[in-house]
Order: sequence, then structure tokens, then C-alpha cells
Amino acid sequence: MSRVKDAHCVAFLHWALPRLGLRWAGYRKVRRRVCKRVARRLRELGLADVRAYGERLEADPAEWRTLAALCPVAVSRFYRDREVFEGLGAEVLPALARGASRLECWSAGCASGEEPYALALLWHLRLAARFPGVAFRVLGTDVDARLLERARTACYGAGSLSGLPAGWREQAFEPRGRLWCLRGEFRPAVELAQQDLLADLPAREFDLVLCRNLAFTYFDDGGARRALERIASRLRPGGALVIGLHEHLPAPAEGFEPWPGCRAVFRLTCVKNARAAGASLHA
Ligand SMILES: C[S@@+](CC[C@H](N)C(=O)[O-])C[C@H]1O[C@@H](n2cnc3c(N)ncnc32)[C@H](O)[C@@H]1O
Repeated sequence: MSRVKDAHCVAFLHWALPRLGLRWAGYRKVRRRVCKRVARRLRELGLADVRAYGERLEADPAEWRTLAALCPVAVSRFYRDREVFEGLGAEVLPALARGASRLECWSAGCASGEEPYALALLWHLRLAARFPGVAFRVLGTDVDARLLERARTACYGAGSLSGLPAGWREQAFEPRGRLWCLRGEFRPAVELAQQDLLADLPAREFDLVLCRNLAFTYFDDGGARRALERIASRLRPGGALVIGLHEHLPAPAEGFEPWPGCRAVFRLTCVKNARAAGASLHA
């Protein structure tokens, strides 16, 4: 079979996603991507339909890992939600940089590097001259090793870059065939590592964490809460968490308060409660 009917795939995802700790509501709009991958998997297994695939999953627990690997959605682009990046540049990063000698940032679920590189560009092109004594680093993590490979090449199609402020593409990228590749001087600020947000944690603390269009869209309530606790355990007192513009922090989100004037940005204030729930840095 070449395709899975939308209604059948929807019913399948309603059944399967919660068993993977994922939320159907997050997948509603992007389900066709996942359905295509499921259809490909059916062909590989020689199965006739999603009902047969459900039976296969029930008989073979290892197949759940394969299905889990088909589910992540990797859509991203530079400067996604411009308003958020503008708020980071105008308010959040300057507030964090004042009096600091270094700024540590973490982009959790960084896809092909668009988010961490955009953050590095924001710093270098807009803020570094105002804060010459501040060392700036971004860690980008993602569960998908192939996306990180692409991130390491740092070459993108023009569509990925179309949200950048005027002139930044020419300033920071050089054309290579049909792609634009980030110039060498902007790369060292970004480090990339394969990590599952629910299983691994970076070994250091951060002033700023971006976790957008991942945990608070696709994870179920328990997963979203665990992700928030884990992020809180790596956020310095007074540090900022940025989520997707259309996302909400899972309740009770103790210790986080909205950053004044910036949508989708939260400051970690009550360190004690948030950390008590999260993993210890040395665990
Ligand atoms: C929709 S993209 C978001 C990219 C970027 N944060 C943005 O907002 O443009 C979600 C990313 O999260 C990654 N991801 C999914 N599950 C993950 C997990 N458990 N741990 C880390 N990354 C994960 C996916 O591979 C994908 O690259």
C-alpha cells in the first residue's frame, strides 16, 4: 500500500501517541508528516494497514522504539517567532548580560541548528559590542543525530533564512550552490550534542534556555512537567526560559514568573521549589 487514509491514521495516532507519552493535540496539524512515515514503515514490514501495524506493535514491544523514532517533528527556521527574538535582543539578553562575565544558553530540541545559530547571530550582530567582556555560548541539543549532522554543516536553503532581519543573511552567510553557509566566525559560539530531554541533561547550568515547539506541544502532561522540572534544574536563579508563542507552561510551574513585556519568556525566581522537583546537577 502506498498511503494510509487520513481517518485511519488519525485513529491510529489517537491510540498510539499516548502510549509513547505524546499528545494527539500537538500532532493534529502536522499529522500528515507522521502518517507518511507510518505508511513507509508499513511498506517496509509488508503490512496492509494501520490495524495490522497496531497488532504488530502489541506483539513486538521493540517496534514501539521504531514508531517513537518516526514521531519527532523537526520543522524550524531562523528567527522563528520574530517577536520573541526581538524581545530577547532588547530586554532579556541585556538584562542577563549586565554585570556578567559569561552567558550560557541552551536550545533544547534545536533541530538542524536554526535556533542556536540565530541566537548566536543575535548576540554577535546586535549585542556583543555593548558587552565586550561577556563570553557567549549556546548549547544546541536534539534527540535526532541526523538533524545534528545537518546542524554541523550549518548550510541552509534561503527559505530557512527568510525570517532574519534585513542584511543578516549577507553579513553572516556565504552562498554555496543553492545553499547559504554560516561564516566560520559565527560557529564557535555554538556547541551541538545529541541528548534526549527526558533522559539526558547537560552538565552545566544556563542563564537562558529555549525549549520551543517540543515539550509543551508534543509531550503529554507528565512528560511536559518532567521536562520543565529538568530544565529548571539547569537554570540559574534569575535565568530565563523561552517557550513557543502558542505554548503554555504546565501547571503548577512553581518558581517561574512571566518576564515583564516579553511574551513566551519566564524568569526562574523561586529556585528552591523548582529545583526540589528537578534533577540535581550532580545526579
Ligand atoms: C519542531 S522542532 C523545534 C525546533 C526549534 N526549537 C524551533 O522551535 O524552531 C522539535 C525538535 O525537537 C526534537 N525532539 C523531539 N523529541 C525530543 C526529545 N525527547 N529530546 C530532545 N529533542 C527532541 C526533534 O527532533 C525536533 O528537532
